[in-house]
Order: sequence, then C-alpha cells, then structure tokens
Amino acid sequence: MITQDMQQKLDGQLNAELYSAYLYLSMSAYFESSDLDGFANWMRVQAREELMHAMKFFDFINSRGGQVALQPIAGPPTDWQSAADAFEEVYRHEQKVTGLINALTSSAVAESDHATNSFLQWFVNEQVEEEESANRVLRNLRLVGSDGAGLLMLDRELSQRVFVPPAAEGGASAGQ
Ligand code: FEO
Repeated sequence: MITQDMQQKLDGQLNAELYSAYLYLSMSAYFESSDLDGFANWMRVQAREELMHAMKFFDFINSRGGQVALQPIAGPPTDWQSAADAFEEVYRHEQKVTGLINALTSSAVAESDHATNSFLQWFVNEQVEEEESANRVLRNLRLVGSDGAGLLMLDRELSQRVFVPPAAEGGASAGQ
C-alpha cells in the first residue's frame, strides 16, 4: 500500500511526464511546419517515450493499491527561434525532470518506501540517457551553426530514430 503523500507525488510526476509528451509533440509540429521532417520525427518518438513513462507511473500507482487522480496538463509553447533554441529547451527540460525524479527518490528513501524507490531507479537511469541524447543533438546543432547543408544532414540522421516499445526494451517495471 502506498501513502497518500507518495500517491500525490507520483500523480504529480505522471502529470510532468504527460506535459513532457505535450512539449515534444508541440516541438514536432513546429519542426513539421519548418520542413525539418527528421527533427519532427525525433520529437514524435520522444513524445511517445514520454507517454510510456507516464503509463509506468499510472500502472505503478494502481499496482500499489492507489487510485490515479489525473490533473490538467499545462499548454506547452508552440514556437521557437530555431532548431537549436528548441533543443536548448529540451535539454533544460530534461535536467528539470531529472531534478523531479531525484526529489521523488529522496522522498521514497525518507519514507522507507523501498518498492517505490526500486521502481524509480529505472527513471534515475533513464534520465542519464534523456539528458545525454538531448545534449548530443544540441552540441551537433552548435557545430552546424548557420550551415544549411549541415542542418539537412542532421535532419536526415534524426529521421532514423524509431520508437522502441517497452516490451522490446528488456527493462523491468510496471507498464510492460
Ligand atoms: Fe520522461 Fe524525458 O523524461
């Protein structure tokens, strides 16, 4: 059984993951309208990953005897100055999410809620990848600068990204 306080905190993180999906879907729309289909694809895949993260929280709360209470999702921005500007925001956002996961993990430890702590370890590791992949694209964009040909090459590379369903991932957690 989960405490009321922990349930509320997990509901909050579920909401943050849904907001992340909204943010990246909005960025996908921005890139579509900028004719950068590879970037749009990367964001669309990222949005699906965020929905998968949200469902892990949804399933975990249920499996611990809680009842999910969905909260309103804030509207994301809809426009950015450039691809680099969008990825600056992705990187900043993922750092913020890492902070939220760390705070949640600290709360689980403080409550001696070992099951929640164990569940959250998947996210602790995932955030390392999330920050790294956003930062890698951002660093590439900084190298490319105002070179249009370089931007199109990067766009082609990002068009290759595919969504890996949780079952094929080999990770362990609720939602699979
Ligand atoms: Fe669900 Fe991008 O962290």
